[in-house]
Amino acid sequence: MRLVVLGMGYLGAAHAACMASIGHEVLGVETDPARLAKLKTGQLPFYEPGLTDLLNKTLDSGHLVITNSYSEAAAWGDIFFIAVGTPQKRSDPSADLSFVDAVIDELVPQLRHDALIVGKSTVPVGTAARLSERAAALSDKVTVEIAWNPEFLREGYAIKDTLQPDRIVLGCVENGSAEQTAREIYEPILNTETPFIVTDTSTAELVKAAANAFLATKISFINAMAEVCLAAGADVLAIAKAIGYDPRIGHRFLRPGIGFGGGCLPKDIRAFMASAGELGAAEALTFLREVDAINMRRRNRMVSTASDSCGGSLLGKRVAVLGAAFKPDSDDVRDSPALNVAGQMQLQGASVAVYDPRAMANARLLFPTLFYADSVDQACKDADIVMVLTEWSEFVNLDPVVVGRLVRARTVIDGRFCLDKRRWTDAGWEYRI
Ligand code: UGA
Repeated sequence: MRLVVLGMGYLGAAHAACMASIGHEVLGVETDPARLAKLKTGQLPFYEPGLTDLLNKTLDSGHLVITNSYSEAAAWGDIFFIAVGTPQKRSDPSADLSFVDAVIDELVPQLRHDALIVGKSTVPVGTAARLSERAAALSDKVTVEIAWNPEFLREGYAIKDTLQPDRIVLGCVENGSAEQTAREIYEPILNTETPFIVTDTSTAELVKAAANAFLATKISFINAMAEVCLAAGADVLAIAKAIGYDPRIGHRFLRPGIGFGGGCLPKDIRAFMASAGELGAAEALTFLREVDAINMRRRNRMVSTASDSCGGSLLGKRVAVLGAAFKPDSDDVRDSPALNVAGQMQLQGASVAVYDPRAMANARLLFPTLFYADSVDQACKDADIVMVLTEWSEFVNLDPVVVGRLVRARTVIDGRFCLDKRRWTDAGWEYRI
């Protein structure tokens, strides 16, 4: 089957390479010249374990071809996947759908045959229906069917989450071709008994919003417990462990720390609230405001803990920040809690040295005024506090005795509850969370 993937960012590149790897002919469309140049030579513009190999394998086999031409795509493809970004608007918390709309505006007038367009991007409820009308207005020669097939992949697990997903959700219109087509495209995946849930398009759009809202709520729940534990002198990790044994609760996504970040959860809960407001159902999601507030409070609290450890002021203090990515095994710094904390401390007068195994280049672009060290050792040299803000295994496995010889004061703040407290305190460190 000839599949076109429009937008070769994180989602699109993973989808395109994975679909090519299961035998489809795939044309990836990327209009950004820098990204296009990289992708064409088998390089990814971001870090994702295993994906560079898969990209090269599928490019070499000829199953995947990359272009910047919408006219080539329109003439060649049978099914068109939308995989462009839907970032938060600069002016308000709702989703910016201009990239999604631009795909329809560019593609549909160039279609010479009927087409199925399948959205994968995260969008507010009602988008597929709105795009159907938009497409119909753009062409009277062809029929365009629009379906929505939300993506649930996590950065760091893109290939596994695409080829062995927990479920596939498809939102489509009745009597259309989308369900049968999706069954054919995803046949090898569905053959492994992956649940396949077919709904109307609004429900499919809402499934994605609901999933990310639930995950965000779970993280903020345990972080709220962390606040209570701090006040009560209790142990939040033990609470997470104990409640997680109840299968109705589960252990996953119950890790406390400086909270969630990245290009998805923060913007998705805000867009969900905005969308509910437009629908007249704002009240239903007011709890997400609290989820967001708890999450943001974690970052501020981390800064106050650091300041407190330095005797009440960060002015003139040297802080080593270990971690810049929003989570390990990623070079993504979008809405990264670690960088947010680093930036806040610098604004309070601290000299902040940041080190991350993968995300340095992206961090420099976003926060150019911070100092970026070449190694853990350089970041920790003469530090008054060491803060572990992304749980890379390199940091989790640090030897506190060795790091202790580099610093000015042995105070470590474990922003991800990822260090072995006993090891650090035995090595003479004051351990704080
Ligand atoms: C998230 C969802 O997990 C995916 O299912 C979804 O497809 C994706 O968003 C998306 O909408 O595209 P991702 O942003 O890659 O995936 O990252 P997660 O693994 O969900 O982590 C999000 C944030 O939560 C990270 O900052 C992480 O450090 C934090 N987190 C996660 C916690 O603080 N505690 C936890 O227990 C788990």
